Amino acid sequence: MYNLLKGKKGIIFGALDSNSLAWKVAERAHQEGAQIVLTNAPVAMRLGAINELGQKINAPIIPADATNNEDLNNLINKATEHFGSKIDFVLHSIGMSINVRKSRHYTDLKHDDFLKAMDISALSFHRTMQSLYNLDAMANEGSIVALSYIAAQRTFPGYSDMADNKSALESIARSFGYYYGKKSKVRVNTISQSPTKTTAGSGIKGFNAFYNYAEKISPLGNANADEFADYCLTLFSDLTKKVTMQNLFHDGGFSFTGVSEEVMEFFMDKE
Ligand SMILES: NC(=O)c1ccc[n+]([C@@H]2O[C@H](COP(=O)([O-])OP(=O)(O)OC[C@H]3O[C@@H](n4cnc5c(N)ncnc54)[C@H](O)[C@@H]3O)[C@@H](O)[C@H]2O)c1
Repeated sequence: MYNLLKGKKGIIFGALDSNSLAWKVAERAHQEGAQIVLTNAPVAMRLGAINELGQKINAPIIPADATNNEDLNNLINKATEHFGSKIDFVLHSIGMSINVRKSRHYTDLKHDDFLKAMDISALSFHRTMQSLYNLDAMANEGSIVALSYIAAQRTFPGYSDMADNKSALESIARSFGYYYGKKSKVRVNTISQSPTKTTAGSGIKGFNAFYNYAEKISPLGNANADEFADYCLTLFSDLTKKVTMQNLFHDGGFSFTGVSEEVMEFFMDKE
């Protein structure tokens, strides 16, 4: 351990079970000396696993639906009260699409479900930052991170409306990052993560194909959830104070590899 986050205080959204990317970040941040407040949608509380994590890392759990401004204000007020200070870092690790869950074809999306998915997966990031901003809850030089996927830039059949939601999410990071940088040197970034076996990940049609293909293309192989947590902590630490408004690929080199020898071999003898 490096004591990278010693004395820092953070809110972590989205730990559903021990496979969740947010769960791994919470555990690692705790190991690195951070104090954490955990949050998730009230409906996720019913599963109960988050309580286990809360006990393990000594973190209170404050439910909040990330599409509800009142819930977010309440969460942020209670978190600052609990910490007795402002917040140094926030992880937004939230995504959900009914069109994806129902495997609806992109050309046949239900638009009310599309709007809901956009609200949960992208606008919630704006809502969260707006609450933090209006309540002046972030410490100077704090750090805010959300999770994205390369389908924001390139088409992956089956990723459906989540591709559009991730594009919006990355754009919100850039736009809010500008204003938050000016206001209090708070940095805002998205991490574009390799396919990872989690509840949200595995709900995507063809997930195993994405996963195996990315594994064969990426020179370093897919980044797993533990590696994601390590990378995320660097962005919460004082070692990255001038990194902002970026979408950072954490994908073993997938995003910049055209083809790999393994994939070429597979097609070699095919006409
Ligand atoms: N797993 C992957 O392959 C992968 C790859 C790249 C990016 N991501 C992104 O990582 C993030 C976390 O997903 P994960 O893979 O850890 O899966 P996960 O299912 O463990 O996490 C998704 C979380 O979103 C929460 N959520 C849903 N609706 C909410 C709401 N209204 N308010 C508050 N929280 C809500 C869920 O309760 C859950 O905890 C998502 O943004 C996802 O798109 C995942």
